[in-house]
Amino acid sequence: MRFLVLGSMNIDNTFSVEHIVREGETISSHGMSRSAGGKGANQSASLAKAGANVCFAGKCGSDGRWILDLLKTYGVDVSLSIVGECNTGMAMIQVDDKGQNSIVLDAGGNRLWQEDEVKTILSSFNEGDVIVLQNEINLLPLIIEEAKRRGMIVVLNPSPFDNAISSLPLDSVDWFFVNEIEGKALTGEDGFDEILNAFKKLYPGASIVLTCGKKGAYAMVGGDICYQEIIDYPVVDTTGAGDTFLGFFLSSFLRGESAEKSLLTATKASAIAVSRKGAMRAIPLKTEVL
Ligand code: RIB
Repeated sequence: MRFLVLGSMNIDNTFSVEHIVREGETISSHGMSRSAGGKGANQSASLAKAGANVCFAGKCGSDGRWILDLLKTYGVDVSLSIVGECNTGMAMIQVDDKGQNSIVLDAGGNRLWQEDEVKTILSSFNEGDVIVLQNEINLLPLIIEEAKRRGMIVVLNPSPFDNAISSLPLDSVDWFFVNEIEGKALTGEDGFDEILNAFKKLYPGASIVLTCGKKGAYAMVGGDICYQEIIDYPVVDTTGAGDTFLGFFLSSFLRGESAEKSLLTATKASAIAVSRKGAMRAIPLKTEVL
């Protein structure tokens, strides 16, 4: 079984600020850094660091080649990625003194995929392989349908959430990874139990992982629900915490571990990730988590 992450890659420009800038305000940062990010690239790194066999297909300009080189050092196969005549995706991230973030994206190559390119990538994958998708690239409806037609397991993290998500072929999704806000937007329900029950009715064949920030995380697999509380660790930067969680959970569960154990492993990994600066670079190795 191989993982394919067909997703975004960004250059993360992160500003450390006392508070997230308010409308009309100009503030100074107390530090700035440039590092590798993008939900797709981060999730690939997390899967690979957790020990999975993962291929990342991203699209960037030549100024983003170093991100692909970095992914290679984690063991990610980037041979299906495209370096073209476009800008690399850019993220402007503010991280406040409490570790909370706010992000502005410029998609660059992430939203310039052509139909023939994604079809060619998918043709290298077969029944039982897993495709992991987020909402930072174009052509998601086509990709989901084509992956399903090939018998792949479809994983969707509908983040960042927008109105286009509701028009995706969500019946073809096998796994949803959502936070509280995304879960609420997809089901129209408030409260964790209500969101999970609504998912069960709307998408009876799907499994759900619902992350609830400081309130822990739930997994619902085959209708059975399990819960894991957070591990209290000092929070420095929450950027990429969800990406870390997804990679460690999927790698563990699809290797045959229980949902309970996979939730615990993913919770430990993201607790370590939020205690460090940055997105991709903060994701721990499996050995650290164990
Ligand atoms: O999930 C975190 C990521 O979201 C950042 O790395 C940023 O690039 C945005 O895509």
